[in-house]
Amino acid sequence: MMFSEYLDFIQSGTNAPASTLTVPSAPPSAIIGNYIPRIDGPRKTTGVAAYAADYNFPRLAYAVPVRSTIASGKILSIDSAAASKLPGVLLILDHSNVPAIFKSGSGGRISESRPPLSDDTVYYWGQYIALVVAETLEQANAAASAVRVRYAPDKFNVSTSLDDPMPAIGAEGGPRIVSHRGDSDAAFASAPVQIDAVYTTPAETHNPMEMHATVAVWKGDKVTLYESSQGVVNHLNVMAQVLGIPKENIDVISRFIGSGFGGKLFPWPHSTLCAVAARQLNRPVKFMLARDMMFSNSGHRPRTEQRVRLGAMPDGKLLSLQHDYRNHTSLVDNVTENCGEATPFLYSTANLRVSSGLVKRNIGSPTPMRGPGAVPGLYALESAMDELAIKLNMDPVQLRLGLDTLTDESNGKPFSSRHLKECLQVGADKFGWSKRNPAIGSMRDGDLILGWGVACASWGAGRGVSQCNVSLRDDGTARASSATQDIGTGTYTVIAQVVSDRTGIPVEKVDVVLGDSSLPPGPMSGGSTATATVIPSVMDAADAAIKTLLAAAVSTNGSPFFGRDAASLALTNARVHLKDQSPDSGVPYEQVLKLAKLAGADGEGKSGGYGSDTDGKNFSNHSFGAQFVEVQWDPGIARLRVSRVVTVIDGGRIINYLPAVNQIAGAVVMGVGMALFEETIYDPNNGHAINDNFADYIVPTSADLPAIDVHFLDIPDPMMGHYGARGIGEIGLAGVAPAITAAVYHATGIRVRSLPVRIEDLLPSKVLV
Ligand code: MOS
Repeated sequence: MMFSEYLDFIQSGTNAPASTLTVPSAPPSAIIGNYIPRIDGPRKTTGVAAYAADYNFPRLAYAVPVRSTIASGKILSIDSAAASKLPGVLLILDHSNVPAIFKSGSGGRISESRPPLSDDTVYYWGQYIALVVAETLEQANAAASAVRVRYAPDKFNVSTSLDDPMPAIGAEGGPRIVSHRGDSDAAFASAPVQIDAVYTTPAETHNPMEMHATVAVWKGDKVTLYESSQGVVNHLNVMAQVLGIPKENIDVISRFIGSGFGGKLFPWPHSTLCAVAARQLNRPVKFMLARDMMFSNSGHRPRTEQRVRLGAMPDGKLLSLQHDYRNHTSLVDNVTENCGEATPFLYSTANLRVSSGLVKRNIGSPTPMRGPGAVPGLYALESAMDELAIKLNMDPVQLRLGLDTLTDESNGKPFSSRHLKECLQVGADKFGWSKRNPAIGSMRDGDLILGWGVACASWGAGRGVSQCNVSLRDDGTARASSATQDIGTGTYTVIAQVVSDRTGIPVEKVDVVLGDSSLPPGPMSGGSTATATVIPSVMDAADAAIKTLLAAAVSTNGSPFFGRDAASLALTNARVHLKDQSPDSGVPYEQVLKLAKLAGADGEGKSGGYGSDTDGKNFSNHSFGAQFVEVQWDPGIARLRVSRVVTVIDGGRIINYLPAVNQIAGAVVMGVGMALFEETIYDPNNGHAINDNFADYIVPTSADLPAIDVHFLDIPDPMMGHYGARGIGEIGLAGVAPAITAAVYHATGIRVRSLPVRIEDLLPSKVLV
C-alpha cells in the first residue's frame, strides 16, 4: 500500500467497538496482516498449557535457597546440623560441599558470571549461600529458615546517588565514549539556546506473572531442564558449560512462558543449582523462585543518572547533543544500561557525544529489561527535547519534525525504513494535538487540568540466524518446529500464519512446536528480534516442504501429475495444481501424499541474519514511534491520572494485529508504571530490596490505565526479507515516560527529572482551578 493510501485508510477511522483499548483496522481477509486469534489461546485459557513449575514427576523433591541477610562481607560459618535433622530434608549444599560448577565461557551468555556457592564471600543481600532440598516445599522452606549463618559483615554501598568519582570520559576506568561526531563541547558552548539537565531513572524489577522456575530431571548422564526461558538454545549452551557435560546430554523445555521482559533471557543461578542438586540426589528437583526472590536473584533494570546537554539555534536547529550517563551494576558483573541506544541517530545534529559509565553497588546483577538502555535513555533525551521546545517557544512536535533525518548520522547510512515524521503526524492528528494550548495549566475539563505531552520512540530492528522444519502431513495438517519459544508475544501464531500463507493450509490446521532445545536451533525471544528472525526460516522451510511435495507429485505412479516437470506445478489453497491452471483444477495435497505413501512432505529451512538476503548491511535499521499522552491533574486533591495515550508505531509490516496491538498496549501500561509507580528500593541499612512484593512494589492496575489507542504505519521494511516485518516487543515502551512527564509539566508547571513522578513532586504546583 502507498503511504498516502495508508493514510486515507487509517484516517477513515476504526471499526472496533469503543473500549479502553482501541484496535486499529487492518487490511481484511489476508492471512498476513489480519486479526488472527492466538493458536495457543485455548490451551492457556483452559489450563492445559504447562509452564516450567507445572511439571511434576514421581519422587520430585523441592529446592529452597538460603539467602544472605548482609549485603557485603564473609560467611564465617554455616551451621546446617539442626536443619538437616528436620523432617524430609534430603540435601543441604553450601560453598563447602557443593559439587563442581564451572564458569560459563564463550558461546552462551549467562546472567551472573560468578558460579553460585563459589566461596564464602557475599556481594549483595539475597545472594544464594546455601540450598536446601526436601521431600516437600514446606519442609524445604522450614529447613532453609533453620540454617544458621554467621557473618563478618563489611561496609556496603546501595546509594541511589550515582555521582561516584571516576576518571574523565574516555580515560582509563572512566566512562567510555559510545558515539561522537564533530566538536560537541565547543558547539554547546557557543549555542545561543542551551539545555543542561540531569535525569534519573530508578532500579525497576521485572515482574512477569510467571516466576522463574526450573525442574531438573536426570536419566543417567542426561538431563532435561523444564525452564522458564526466553532462549532455550542459549540456556542449553550455558548449562553444558556450567555443568561440564556435552550439549547433546541436555534438553531445555520451555513450552509456555508467562512472560519475561528480559529477565529470562539468560540463565540465572537457580537453574544451575537445581540441576546440580538433582544430579547429586538422582531425583527430579524443582526450584521455583518466590516473588520476593525475584527482586534480588533474577535481575532488574539498573538505576541510571543521565546528563543531557542540548545546544540549539532559536529556530530549533540542533547544534550539539551530549548524553553522558552512568548506571549502577553489581560487584560481580559489569552490565551496561546503554541509555544512548537511540541518541546517535534520532535527530540531525553535526556535533554529538554519547558516553557511558558504570558504578558498582552491592546488589544482584542487573539484566536487560524491555527496551534496555533506550527506554531510560529516551526518558532523558526526550525530556530534554521537551524542555528545549519550551525554551524556544516552539511546538514540541514541530521541533522534532524539523530535526528528522533519513540518514543515520552516526554512520552515514540511510535508514532502511524510517517514518518517524509520519508517526508524529498521524499521532498528532489522531490525538487532536492542533487543539493544544501550550500555556501551563490552560486546558481544562471541568475541575480537572489537562496536560498534553509528546515524545518519540525508537528501538533497534535486529534479525539473527534461525532454522525451522515444516512438514505437510497426510491428514491435511502441517507441523512447524523450531527451537525458539513464545514468551507470550504470539510467536506460535505468527509461525502458523507464515506456513498458512505459503501453503494455503488453514492456520488452525498448523501445529507449531516450539520451546525445546532439541528442535532445529531458533532465536532467543529478545531484543524484539524473534519475529523478524524466525519467519524467513519458516518461509524457507515451508517452500522446501512444498518442493518435496511437488517432487512426489511428479514421481508417483497414479498421481495426476506423474511424469510432469515439478516446476510446472504449484501449491495454492492446499491444492496441488498446474501453475497455469486454477487451483480448483488440482487435487488436495494430502491426496498426493497418500498416493505416494508418504506420511508427510518435509522441508528444512534456514535463514541468515540481517543483510544475508538483502542489501541490509548498507542501511541503518531501527523501529520508530510517537507517543501522545494526556494527563488529568486535580489540584484540589493532588490526584494525577494518565487519561489518554495515542501511540503510533513504525515497526515494519505487522503480521498479526491482535498480538501486535497487545504488545504495544502492554508496553504503554508498563510505561505508565515506569513514569508513576515503579521503583525497587534497596534499604540503606542492609541492602535488602525492601519492597520485594506486590503490595509495596507498585505496578499499574486497570483502574490506573488510560484509554490506549494503538496505530501501526504497517510499512514493510524492505531490508527485513520477504515479509518486511520487524519485532515490536519493546518499541511501545520507549517514549511513554517522557511523554507523561511532558504532559505533567504542561498541566502543573512542574518538571519531574527523577522517576517515578510522586505526588509530593507536584504539590508545589501553582496551577489552581
Ligand atoms: Mo527483551 S529486554 O530483549 O526481553
